[in-house]
Amino acid sequence: MLAIRNINELLIVPPGPVPGRAMRHIETLRSAAVLLDDERIAWFGPDADCDPPAGCPTLDAAGGCVLPGLIDCHTHTVFAGARADEFVRRLEGATYAQIAEAGGGIRRTVEAVRAATGDGLVALAQPRIQRMLANGVTTLEIKSGYGLNVDDELKMLLAIRRLQAHTPVELVATYLAAHTTPRERAGRADEYLDTVLAPAVLARIRDERLAEFCDVFCERTAFTVEQARRVLTTARQYGLIPRLHADQITQMGASALAAEVGALSADHLETIDDGGIDALKRAGTVPVLLPGCSFFLGVEQAPARRLLEADLPVALATDHNPGSCMIESLPLVMGIACTQMRLTPTEVVVAATANAAAALNRRHQVGAIAVGMQADLVVLDVPDHQSWMYELGRNCVRSVVKKGKVVVGLTW
Ligand code: NIG
Ligand code: FE
Repeated sequence: MLAIRNINELLIVPPGPVPGRAMRHIETLRSAAVLLDDERIAWFGPDADCDPPAGCPTLDAAGGCVLPGLIDCHTHTVFAGARADEFVRRLEGATYAQIAEAGGGIRRTVEAVRAATGDGLVALAQPRIQRMLANGVTTLEIKSGYGLNVDDELKMLLAIRRLQAHTPVELVATYLAAHTTPRERAGRADEYLDTVLAPAVLARIRDERLAEFCDVFCERTAFTVEQARRVLTTARQYGLIPRLHADQITQMGASALAAEVGALSADHLETIDDGGIDALKRAGTVPVLLPGCSFFLGVEQAPARRLLEADLPVALATDHNPGSCMIESLPLVMGIACTQMRLTPTEVVVAATANAAAALNRRHQVGAIAVGMQADLVVLDVPDHQSWMYELGRNCVRSVVKKGKVVVGLTW
């Protein structure tokens, strides 16, 4: 048992997916308390009514705000090397696509990842994940996609698996071998896909549970809609749930493909059109927006308000990666969604909790404050969630609770 007392504002986020128009109307409770029974939320209500058993340890929220642990549902946090020079080239006028076409971009990181050992990848990612946890993230999706051959893609997935032993953050792995075609197979994308979609490879990923999802970058510099369809339908035969990088730079009808294959999420969506919005709605696909990426690249944001108006359960994630978004902080990205996409603080909290849980097929486990839900909670040192977003860029996290255990901050 653990009691969290003296909460000024408890955000009672319901289990996802929360439809767009409902996202700004979340119940809050003032002067609240929460009781945790082992790994689950056992009770919440007014602090005056809180009746913990004798000797129950207490976490004093000190008049702060409490909400579900954050869920970063789209990242590329396992990587080696750096691309600060590309950041500077873009400031001087080059675009992300131009840099990719000139041999930079993803392929640069691929060289560094291939040169790294599995141990090396683990050592590089571990402190990043630790900092994400300190910012309130309790569930984190990580993709492969910088190996681009069978051995190095598996090396990345195995690194994600091994990282789990080093962190209380729940890690969720996605197979993104179809991130782009590797240099040695340039112009022969289908032949490359034959190798990473080989039955023995997909069977191993399934049997060893090395990934839950399969992702593909559907883009002019990566894979066509037809190729993406092949990747996702083939992987699905091996139990990998489809999701994709859709409509980021080029409008190619990738959202329609997401709907067609029943993808759990369609991510990016900077160039989504009305047809794509209708398709996601029909299919129940969760739109995952990545405002840190457009902010980092200095390009236009996805039409977030239109997606919310269409009543879609919008989710938010960092897209943390060395090329298009070297931003680790999900709270910072939520603040960017407020100022650049005009989402309200309540909407961004729902997008980074309940709806992100839905995007990771975990809506019954995490992302909400409800009796029986996993006790993943964040305690902020600000009195309410509006003040949190207002203090854009400062880490306001006082404590983090994962599966009922205090993993950041102190209990007393
Ligand atoms: O989500 N879009 C494709 N993948 C990443 C970028 C990866 C990279 O540039 O290294 C993204 O933006
Ligand atoms: Fe991405």
